[in-house]
Amino acid sequence: MTNSTANAVIPGPRGWPLLGWRGNTLRFFRQPFSYSQHLYHTYGEIVSLARGSTASLFAFGPEMNNQIFTNPALYEVRPNKLFRVPPNTPLGKITRNNLLMMNGEKHKQQRRLMQPAFHRQQIQKYAEDMVSLTESMLHRWQGKAHIDLRDEMKQLTQHIAVKTLFGLHEVGELNRISELLERMQNSLFLSAIIPFNLPGMPIKGANRAAGEIDAYLQALITRKRGELEAMDVLASLVRTHDEDGYQLSDDELIGHAFTLFVAGHETTANALTWSVFLLSQHPTKLAAVLDELDSVLGGAAPTLEQLPRLKQLDYAIKESLRLMPPAIVGTRVAAEACELGGYAIAPGSSIMFSSFITHRISELYEDPHTFKPERWSSMTPTPYEYLPFSAGPHMCIGAGFASQEIKLVLAMLLQRYRFGIDPNSNISTDVTMRPVRGMPMQLLPVDHKLNYVQVKGNINQLIKFNGG
Ligand code: HEM
Repeated sequence: MTNSTANAVIPGPRGWPLLGWRGNTLRFFRQPFSYSQHLYHTYGEIVSLARGSTASLFAFGPEMNNQIFTNPALYEVRPNKLFRVPPNTPLGKITRNNLLMMNGEKHKQQRRLMQPAFHRQQIQKYAEDMVSLTESMLHRWQGKAHIDLRDEMKQLTQHIAVKTLFGLHEVGELNRISELLERMQNSLFLSAIIPFNLPGMPIKGANRAAGEIDAYLQALITRKRGELEAMDVLASLVRTHDEDGYQLSDDELIGHAFTLFVAGHETTANALTWSVFLLSQHPTKLAAVLDELDSVLGGAAPTLEQLPRLKQLDYAIKESLRLMPPAIVGTRVAAEACELGGYAIAPGSSIMFSSFITHRISELYEDPHTFKPERWSSMTPTPYEYLPFSAGPHMCIGAGFASQEIKLVLAMLLQRYRFGIDPNSNISTDVTMRPVRGMPMQLLPVDHKLNYVQVKGNINQLIKFNGG
C-alpha cells in the first residue's frame, strides 16, 4: 500500500444532515439486506457510512474478515456506545460479565474457564434432553393442523436452553425462567434504542428484570454447589477452575449464564425455522434429506453415533446458515490508529463485518442466492469465507452445541411431518433474521407431496426460488 492510498478518503455515501453516519446506520437497520448489498456493490470492500469520516465503516469479504479476526488486539469488541449501563446495578453486573464485551487476557481467561462445558463429550450429554423436549413438543402437536413454526421453535429452543444450561426440569419453572429472561432481553433491546436512564424508560424495566434474574440465578448457583452429580452447563461452570485454582465468581457466573441463554436460543430457533422453510420450498432437495433419514434412522430419533452419517442433512443446514445466517453482522472497534484495506482508520472507529454479504459473493459461491445444499459435498471454504458462527477468538462458543441441536431437532421434525407453507403468507425478515411475521405452517402427513408455494414478503428478494 502507498501513502497516497492510506491518505485517500474511504468511499461511501454522504452522511445525513445533522445525523451524519447515524442516518445511514438507521437506513441499514431499516433495509439491512438491500442496503448492505448496495454499499458493497457500489463502493467495494471498505465503505464509510459518511464519506470523509471513519466513525462508522463496513468491511466486506474474506480479506477484510481475515484482517479483523486475526488482529483482535487492534479490532476489539466494545459495548454499544449508545447504551451506557448504570454501574453497580444488577443490570450492570449481568451485561458486563459477558464474553462479547471482553478483550485480551480477561476474555481468554474467562473463555478458557467456560470451554469445558462446551467440549464435545460434554455437549453429547445434552443430546438426551434435546431429543426428549422435541418429543414432548411433537406430542403437543398431535391433532393440530396448523402451527406457527417460529413460535414453536422459539419455545423449544428456550426449553432446551433452560434445561441444558440450568438443569431445570419442571415445565412451570422452565416457562417462568424463560419468560423472565425473555422480558429482560426485550427491555435490554429497547434500552439500546432509547438509552436514557429516566423514570418510565425501558432501562428501568431491564434493571427490575435483572434484579429478579440476579436473585434467581444466585439461588440456583448455591443449589448447584451442593449438586455434585449435576451435568448442566451452569453446574459445570460452578465446578470449573484453571491451573492456578481461579474459579468464576458468582457475578461472573450470573453474567455468563444470562449471555448463554440470550446468545443461544433465538439464533438456533431462527436457524431451525429457516431450514424447514427452505427445505419445504425445495421439494427435490428435501427428498434427498428424507431418503437419507429413512435409510439411516428408519423413523427413529437419531443417536449421536448416527449424526455423522446424515450428510445430506448437514449440507442442508450449512446451506441454510449460508443464506440466512442468524447473525448477519458483527462489530469491532479500532483500539488505535491503523490501516484496513489500504485506508487509514482513526482510533475508536466502529467497523461492521458481514457474514450475509460474504456468503453471497459470487466468486466464492456460484449462483449465490439459490438454495443448493449439494454444493457442500465439494466445498471447504476458509473460516473467513463461511462464518455463520463468526471467526477468531470470539467465534461462537456454542457452535457445536447449536449444530447438534439443529441436527437432532430437524431429523425428528422432518420424519414426523411435511411442513406446508400457507400460500400468500408474508415471509419476511429483518436485521435479527427472525421471521418477523411468523412462519405459518400446515402440519401434513408424511405421504403428502409438497410443491413450491408462492409467498409474499422480502424472502423473495433474499432467495432465488426457481419455482422450487
Ligand atoms: C445457530 C445458532 C447460533 C449462531 C448462528 C451463533 C452465532 C454467533 C456469532 C456470530 C457469534 C460471534 C459474534 C462476534 O464475533 O461478534 C457468537 C458468539 C457467542 N455465542 Fe453463538 N450462535 C449460535 C448459538 C449459540 C449457542 C447455542 C450458544 C450457547 C449455548 C451460544 C453462545 C455464544 C457465546 C457465549 C458467544 C460469545 C463468544 C465470545 O465472545 O468469546 N451461541 N455466536
